[in-house]
Order: sequence, then C-alpha cells, then structure tokens
Amino acid sequence: MSTNESSAMEQLSVEELTAKLEPDLLPKHVAIIMDGNGRWAELRNLPRIAGHREGIKSVREIITACQELGIQALTIYAFSQENWNRPLQEISAIMGLLEYYLSTELAKLIEQGVRFRTIGRLDSLPASALQWVRAAEQKTAHLERLHLTVALSYGGRTEIVDAMQAILRETQEGKLQPGDVDETCIQQHLYTHGLPDPDLLIRTSGETRISNFLLWQLAYTELYFTPTLWPDFRRRELVQALLEYQRRERRFGRVLSTISS
Ligand code: FPP
Repeated sequence: MSTNESSAMEQLSVEELTAKLEPDLLPKHVAIIMDGNGRWAELRNLPRIAGHREGIKSVREIITACQELGIQALTIYAFSQENWNRPLQEISAIMGLLEYYLSTELAKLIEQGVRFRTIGRLDSLPASALQWVRAAEQKTAHLERLHLTVALSYGGRTEIVDAMQAILRETQEGKLQPGDVDETCIQQHLYTHGLPDPDLLIRTSGETRISNFLLWQLAYTELYFTPTLWPDFRRRELVQALLEYQRRERRFGRVLSTISS
C-alpha cells in the first residue's frame, strides 16, 4: 500500500474499513500472539498486571469482532510454557485474570455461540483455574458459531512431542502400523486436531518471531506483524489486519490458477 493510500485508510471509521472487507475472502481461522501487555503498562508507569488487565479488554473485543464478522475459529496464545519462568506474583495474577475472565464472561460466550477450548499441558495449571477452564469447555461444547481456542501452558515443540508419543503408544498397541504415520496422522494427534490450520497469524508489539506457537500448523499461514501493543489492538486493528490479508496472494507453493478454492 502507498503512503497516500494508508493515510486515506487512517481517515476512515471502523465501520467504513469493515465495509471494505470481502466477506467471501475472510480467513476461516485467525491465530494471535498477544504480546506487549507489560510494555503497555510500563509506558504508563503502571504495574505489569495493569497491562494484562487491559489486554483482557482486547480479548473480549476481538472475540466479539470475529464472531460478528463470521470468522469460524480464533486461537489465542495466552500463556506459553516459557511464561512459567516469570515472577510468581505475575503468574498468579495472570491465572487470577483467567479465572476472573471465565467467571464473568462465560454467560456472554454462550450467548455469542462461542465454543471455548484450550490447548497445552493444562495439568500444570493451578487447580482452581483448571476447574474454570474445564467447566467452560463443558458448558460450551455444543456451540459452534466461533471456535475459540486458548493456548495455556502451551509450547509448539511439546505439542509435537506429545503427538509423537501418542503415535508410538498406538503403534506399540497395534492400533497403528509405522506405514500409517503420514501428515494426516500427525495432524490428527496434535492438540488442534479437528481445527483447520490458521490462515492468518497476527503478532502484536513489533516482535517478528513465532515463539514456539503452532509450529506444525503455521506451515502455509500468512504472517502479520504490527507494532501495536496488545492492549491497544482492538476491532479497528483487527479489520486492518484482515484487509492486509485480503490484499495478499495465497499460493500454497503452487501457481494461483491450480488452486480450485
Ligand atoms: C503478553 O504480554 C501477554 C501475556 C503473556 C499474558 C496474556 C494473558 C492474559 C491477558 C490473561 C488471560 C487470557 C485470557 C484468554 C482471558 P507480555 O507480558 O509478554 O508483554 P511484554 O512483552 O511487553 O512484557
């Protein structure tokens, strides 16, 4: 996009920007690395947890926007395995926010038709947070307007290790033959089995890394990096990311004319 075009876009309201989206070309599955909560708070001389608290408002707004736009799946990286190395106080605060979010937001998620699921090594979570997570998964299991997946205590390499171990177990038990192990088989053993691969990955806060997120699933995903910090990433920023996605050609390593859909 030229500088003129992008300054013209800045003048548009969020509704005008949304009207520019082509509904038939929306990504089916959007994944987000929500980054920059700590920096958002530090810039305001606030404790880091204030950034996480503000980040929850973005989570809420982005879920609603995806649901309203008709995006089928949203996967968000809320807590990585590496995040366990943060100060205990920050970890407890994030877990507390997760519980708070689920306890106050579950009714709205149900009303919006959001199916809530998690991926990651959930057994590391504090018992009370885990209880809220399992309850939310159960109470939304019948819903399918938006498939919301929250990565918690998640690592992409660990996910592949867990898939390999499950495959090896099934091979030992005679349920699988070594020759059955192909890409489809691996996919079926990932935490995300049943979900299509993300079409678009968004990472906020100016970092341009994947950081061990959905390593297998991102093979052909369009990557979108923005300097906006997560607490400032709201509906307008999402629509801008979707417009950029629609401007790109998606080839899957082939020429466009050979792609039928
Ligand atoms: C990244 O910012 C944010 C996190 C690691 C935590 C995000 C978690 C929540 C907002 C709470 C729970 C989530 C849900 C789905 C309710 P950062 O702290 O890494 O920011 P920095 O890079 O600026 O330090």
